[in-house]
Amino acid sequence: MTPQRPDKHLPQSLALHSLAVHGGNRVDPGTGAIRSPLVLANSYALPDDPADISWSRTDPPLYTRNSGTNQLLLQDKLAALEGGEDALVLASGVAALHAVFFTHLRTGDHVIISDITYEATWRLFTELLPQRYNIEATFVDSTDHNAVRAAVRPNTKLVHVEAIANPTTRVTDIAALADIAHEAGAILTVDSTFTPPPLYRPLADGADLVIHSLTKFIKGTATRWAVRSSGPRSSSVLSRQTPWSTSAE
Ligand SMILES: Cc1ncc(COP(=O)(O)O)c(C=O)c1O
Repeated sequence: MTPQRPDKHLPQSLALHSLAVHGGNRVDPGTGAIRSPLVLANSYALPDDPADISWSRTDPPLYTRNSGTNQLLLQDKLAALEGGEDALVLASGVAALHAVFFTHLRTGDHVIISDITYEATWRLFTELLPQRYNIEATFVDSTDHNAVRAAVRPNTKLVHVEAIANPTTRVTDIAALADIAHEAGAILTVDSTFTPPPLYRPLADGADLVIHSLTKFIKGTATRWAVRSSGPRSSSVLSRQTPWSTSAE
């Protein structure tokens, strides 16, 4: 069989280092530039008849609260690098964490979370979510799989860990946690900030959603993003594939 030749328009034919260069890049239709330029617009042209427009649509862009050209291109690159279906870029990693938890959790739900976790995530689950929304969290040693299993309740909807945890760098076995979460009917969300692709790709080990703070290893300087697990394209940050659009009721 003839091996598939790499084609920069076919992400699945590319190795990761090529995806890092070509993912999310387009020849700019307006100028012919071969690298997507920065687009500073805050509003985009409407069709002649805007009657059928969904004003909360994100693709193609309409207004920067919803999305913008460069955001969409970055999302494509990140989804490709994580091996996910889709990605969602937000203003910061903490915004991404909020988006994931507020999308997937409801009042009365229960969450299992690693007892070593980034400070803002810790505060979300010790203060904001329990006190305002009656969402309970059990903090466990994520390397103790029996403890994780024992923490499961009938209303457990989500298990959250960091692949390498901030601040102690404790390493969690994502595949094992994915199995436990899925057996419980919950999703596994992984903050992979300390383990950027290609070093590690949690979706390949069964994680449902991946979150990054872009200011760290992915970018290295002060810009941000957040990802979502990507599953089938129709279904984002990158997924088992829980559709972002449909789950964000
Ligand atoms: C593991 C981890 N997750 C999330 C964040 C939050 O990211 P941001 O600073 O982009 O809001 C940080 C920031 O230090 C972090 O270390």
